[in-house]
Order: sequence, then C-alpha cells, then structure tokens
Amino acid sequence: MEISYLRISVTDKCNLKCFYCRPENMEFIPYQEILRYEEIGRLVRFLSKYGLKKVRITGGEPLVRPQIERLVEILADIPQIEDISMTTNGITLSQHAEKLKKAGLKRVNISIDSLKPELFYQITKGRLEDVLEGVKIAKKVGLNPIKVNAVIIRGLNEEEVLDFVEFGIEYGVEVRFIEMMPLGQGSIRWEQEMVKPLDQVKEKIEEKFGELISITSIGSGAARVYEIPSYKTKVGFITPMSNPFCDGCSKLRLTAEGSIKLCLRTDEEIPIKDVLRNGSDEELDEFIRKVLIAKEISNLKIQKSNYSFSDCVRVMTSIGG
Ligand code: 5AD
Repeated sequence: MEISYLRISVTDKCNLKCFYCRPENMEFIPYQEILRYEEIGRLVRFLSKYGLKKVRITGGEPLVRPQIERLVEILADIPQIEDISMTTNGITLSQHAEKLKKAGLKRVNISIDSLKPELFYQITKGRLEDVLEGVKIAKKVGLNPIKVNAVIIRGLNEEEVLDFVEFGIEYGVEVRFIEMMPLGQGSIRWEQEMVKPLDQVKEKIEEKFGELISITSIGSGAARVYEIPSYKTKVGFITPMSNPFCDGCSKLRLTAEGSIKLCLRTDEEIPIKDVLRNGSDEELDEFIRKVLIAKEISNLKIQKSNYSFSDCVRVMTSIGG
C-alpha cells in the first residue's frame, strides 16, 4: 500500500487550553523523548519512497516548538514532498508566518471555534484578536490557501455557522466545519449530545446562500468541500461521527515522541523512535514495510467495527488533529 499523507506532531505543548482538547493537569513529554527534526526528516525521506507526497506539521501547537522553520526547511529539501502545510491555533502566527513561508511552508489551517471574543476566550483561554492578526499576516505573506477549522459544538457555537461563512467570504478563506470526536478527555467529559451533525449545518447555509456545489476532489482529504457559487467561496465539512470517511485511508500520524499512529479511531500505535534513532537504513526500510501492512490491517478492522472509536485515551492535544 502507498502512504500519501503524514501528519507530524512536533510537540504536545500548546499555548491554548481548549476545554474539549486538553486535560486540566497534563504532563508533557520530556524534551529528550521528543523526536529531533533530523529524525523526522529521515522518516519522511524513507516514507517518500512509499508514495508520501504531503506532510502536515501539527502539535499541540507546532509554533511553540523552537525554530520550527528548521523542520520546514528539512522537509522542503526532500524532492518528492510536494505539499508542506501546518495546523496552528494562530495565536503567534503573525510573528512566524514570514519565516515559515521562506523556509518552504505552503499553507496553513487555522483553528477558530468562535468569532465572538468572549466565547473564543471561554473555549480556548486565548485572544481571538491575535488569531485574526495571524490570518491576515498569513494571507499577506502568501501562505495560500488558508483554511479555518471550526469544531461545531451543540449549544455553544452552533449559532455562529452563518457568521463563519460570512467570515470566509470576507477574509477569502475556506471554512471547514468539524464534528467533535470522542478522543481522550479534555477538561470535560465528552457527550454524544455535544456533536452537531453537519448535514444540519449545510442545510442552514443553503437556506441563506443557495445550493452548495460539491467540488470535493482527491486533494480534499477528510473534508467534503463545496462552493458557494455566488461568492466563489469554499466551505468544507468533516464528519467523522455522522458520515465516516475511512475507506481507502492512506494517512499516517507521527506522534511527538516517535510513534506511528495508524488511525484516530484506536489507540493502536507503533513505536518507531528506536529504529529511527539507531537503526540502519535496511532496518528502517524493513520497519516501514511492517507499518504499511499494519495500516492495511487497521483499515480492515475499522471497517469491521463499523467505524467506532475504541479506547481513545490519547487526547487530541498530543495527536494534533
Ligand atoms: N474532535 C474534533 N476536532 C478536534 N480538534 C481537537 N479536538 C477535537 C475533537 N475532539 C480540532 C482542533 C483543531 C484540529 C487540529 O483538531 O480544533 O482544529
């Protein structure tokens, strides 16, 4: 099997505390346990022999790891890698955008769960203003296209859906609505009632903006993407709960401490740090072939389990989406 896409978590630290993502008393991975940039580069170089073309840098919050642009440079030096993106909360993006662009970052996804400063603060404990500045600067330096991620939570930000679309039109960004998944525990207990099925959100948008035209393509990843014809603005829907998109998944995740996570729906992980640090090229190649077989088996198991989320103890802040 080919692997087309790798998400690389570079830290489990974050400068926000989103209540659904991060537990109250989190213990962070000690520095020595975290993969070095060179080690990540080695893995990506090897995976590129098995089809890898797209990588995404995530966290925690990737911009809190010092000199993250060095990793971007290392990845940009690998000829097969065509697309390097980053998922960030945007808090310090305005200070980092220019050097990231220079290092070879193509584009960013920015998480914004509310456009109301008070509610944004309530969810994240951060300042919306800082993020909006980040969006503007990212746009200015040409980190395009910019996508904005909004996790829609019942009773919290569901009334803001149309505001998000207006925001997308005004800022020239694609807004992607996300259903909340039962991963680990943030500082709240996850409840099924918090999930807002996104077909309802889509209907609401169509009532106001007219019929959405599907433009989902191979590069769309997990999102189902639509265009609002009168504005040429795109909106996306990521529906892990109401409409899973697992079939044919060829995505892998690398955790900050060096394990390959096969799927968000299970805690199944394969530690790769040791062979990455100490193994020969042959040993690493051999290991990667085993990972690819494990991924195929994992895909079959997920299908058989009817796309359930089982034993997800690892919290999102240590996966990075
Ligand atoms: N369900 C869905 N999305 C989540 N994110 C974090 N935790 C969850 C969850 N439990 C989102 C963040 C960010 C992206 C990396 O993942 O809001 O946009």
